[in-house]
This record gives sequence, structure tokens and C-alpha cells, in this order.
Amino acid sequence: MGFLYSQFFVTPAYPTRSFAGETVIVTGANVGLGKEAARHITRLGASKVILACRNTTAGEEAKHDIVSTTKVNPATIEVWQLDLNSYDSIKDFANRASALPRIDVLLENAAIATSNFQLVNGHESTVTVNVISTFLLALLMLPKLKETSKQYNVQPRLVIVSSEVHSYTDLPERKAPNTFDELDNQSTANMSQRYPTSKLLEVLVVREIAPKLNGSGVILNMLNPGLCHSSLSRNTAGLQGIVFWLMKTLLARSTEVGSRTLVAGAAADEDSHGEYMHDAMVADEAVSSFVKSEDGKKTSQKIWTELKEVLEKIEPV
Ligand SMILES: NC(=O)c1ccc[n+]([C@@H]2O[C@H](COP(=O)([O-])OP(=O)(O)OC[C@H]3O[C@@H](n4cnc5c(N)ncnc54)[C@H](OP(=O)(O)O)[C@@H]3O)[C@@H](O)[C@H]2O)c1
Repeated sequence: MGFLYSQFFVTPAYPTRSFAGETVIVTGANVGLGKEAARHITRLGASKVILACRNTTAGEEAKHDIVSTTKVNPATIEVWQLDLNSYDSIKDFANRASALPRIDVLLENAAIATSNFQLVNGHESTVTVNVISTFLLALLMLPKLKETSKQYNVQPRLVIVSSEVHSYTDLPERKAPNTFDELDNQSTANMSQRYPTSKLLEVLVVREIAPKLNGSGVILNMLNPGLCHSSLSRNTAGLQGIVFWLMKTLLARSTEVGSRTLVAGAAADEDSHGEYMHDAMVADEAVSSFVKSEDGKKTSQKIWTELKEVLEKIEPV
């Protein structure tokens, strides 16, 4: 009921908070919610907006579109290559970004939803892109975000775009000795639940690591934009694709309206740290009951322990 109420009756507030002087990175900004969030943040005066895209030609087209509607100096927007299917690309991106004078917002928006099982870098592709790569980039950028906080006396935001659908599963794979190994097992994979699973994993990891960032000056939050028009369902086939299409046709917000919660996350205060935002506001009540249960808390610890092992193999610290 909360979902329907929100989709039908709530319109997140139009973003007005200034981003003047800020450097903002938006991943997956060539299209969809990321592009509309980048447009708002550009309009709101950011000094530098980096569109982190795997397809830089599409990124340049998005830049052209944003410049034409916001009338900013084209030099404000830069398009940088970032492919979350490639750990080398993520490391190169993080090295390049770490050389910037400051980073005020890392808005991790890029994600996939697919019904096809495929291994990428040894893990199922949705898990690779939405979870492993997303947190690899986050951890590689944390030193720069902390440095920005100290140097400029600001609170940089690390924002993870999650989803309402995190509540569609209680992660039965948590019962396996290693959940990531289980998710990589094609013979048991439930691909109709894989996208919700990836979004639940994001929520669990954010809740686990946010307390470890207390006092670091960095605000880590996560959010649900609501069901919105975008290209997200392009790789969902069969019944799942039909259901997604029908729901979007009946209920979806425009991409611009959906992007408002991304901008709210990028501008949110300390009260959003470790929290979940919904309809552009902190909304703990929108976090699933599984996540908040004792089982959910234990699962958060398990997932973070396992994810750390995966990340350690990619980038030993
Ligand atoms: N739309 C909704 O109803 C909805 C609801 C809740 C949450 N969300 C979340 O909102 C975020 C944005 O989704 P969207 O709806 O705007 O979808 P979208 O239109 O499909 O945009 C996804 C973006 O992610 C990028 N991306 C995908 N794989 C990548 C990779 N390997 N490396 C780098 N970038 C990659 C895409 O780039 P390409 O164009 O090159 O593929 C695209 O820019 C996602 O985190 C999604 O889970 C969406």
C-alpha cells in the first residue's frame, strides 16, 4: 500500500539546494535517473559534474543535452570512462578522481537488471555491477572523500541508489555457507529475484559499513527513487519483462521526478547517514522488516564479511 500511495499521491520536492563550489560524480549518467540527477545538480550550480559512463559517446550526448537545457559553461561537465564490468576500469577511474582537488558527492547510480545469468569477473553480472563494483568504487574513493572533508571542512556524500524492491526478498541464499558463491551458482540461481537481491545486498552493506564511517566526515546514505521511466528493464525478458512494463505503464514516475530523490541524497544532512531515503526524505519505515530483523542484522554482518573477502582479492589493502 505504501508503494501505491507513494507512486500515485507523492511527488518528491523539486530540488533547490545549491551545489555551488561542489564537485559531483554521477555514475551511469548518460541516461535515465543518473542523467536527470546530473542535470539538476548542474542547474544548481555545481563547479564540476563528472558523468561517469561506460559509453563515453553516450556520455558526450548526455553532456550536450544537459548543457543545452541548463546553459552552463560546457567545461562544467566532464565525461569520464567507467565500466563497472571491469575492475581495471574502476581502479583507473578512482586513481584519476583521487587527483581532483575535491569530491563532494559520489552518486553511485549505475546498475543493471537482467534475467540472463552470465558470469562477469567470476561473479553473476548483476552481483558484479550492482554490488561488488559499486562498493569497490566506494571504498577506493573513500580516502578522497575523507580528505575533502578535512581540507574543506565539508561533509561529502557517498550515495548508493538502491530500490524499494530490496523488500521483495529475504535472501534465501543467506543460508548457504557463502552467499556470493551461492549467487554465482547457475543451477540454483533465481534470476527473477536477482535484481531485488542485488538491491537488498546494497542495503545490508550500507547499514553494516555506515557506523564504521562515523566521525570520518563522510555521509553515506542510500535511497529509493520509486518506480520510474528509464531504460532499466531493457534486459528483462519473458514474464518478468511484461510485469515490469505493465507496472511502469500504470504507475511510473517520470525520470525527472524520480531523479529528485537522488539529488536529495546528494544534498542530505547527517541525519541521512546510514539511512534509507524515499520520496526525497529519510524514511526508516520504508526499510524492509527483514533488514531490520535480528536475522537481517546477522545477514548484514555475513554479507559484509564475504564482500570484504571478494574485494580484498580485487584490491588487496
Ligand atoms: N527506474 C526505476 O524504476 C528504478 C527504481 C528503483 C531504483 N532504481 C535504480 O536507479 C538507478 C538508475 O537506474 P535507471 O532506472 O536510471 O536505469 P537505466 O536508465 O538503465 O540507467 C542505468 C545506468 O547504469 C549504467 N550502467 C549499467 N551497467 C554499467 C556498467 N557495467 N558500467 C557503467 N555503467 C553501467 C547504464 O549505462 P549504459 O547506458 O551504457 O547501459 C546507465 O547509464 C539504478 O541503481 C536502479 O537500480 C531504478
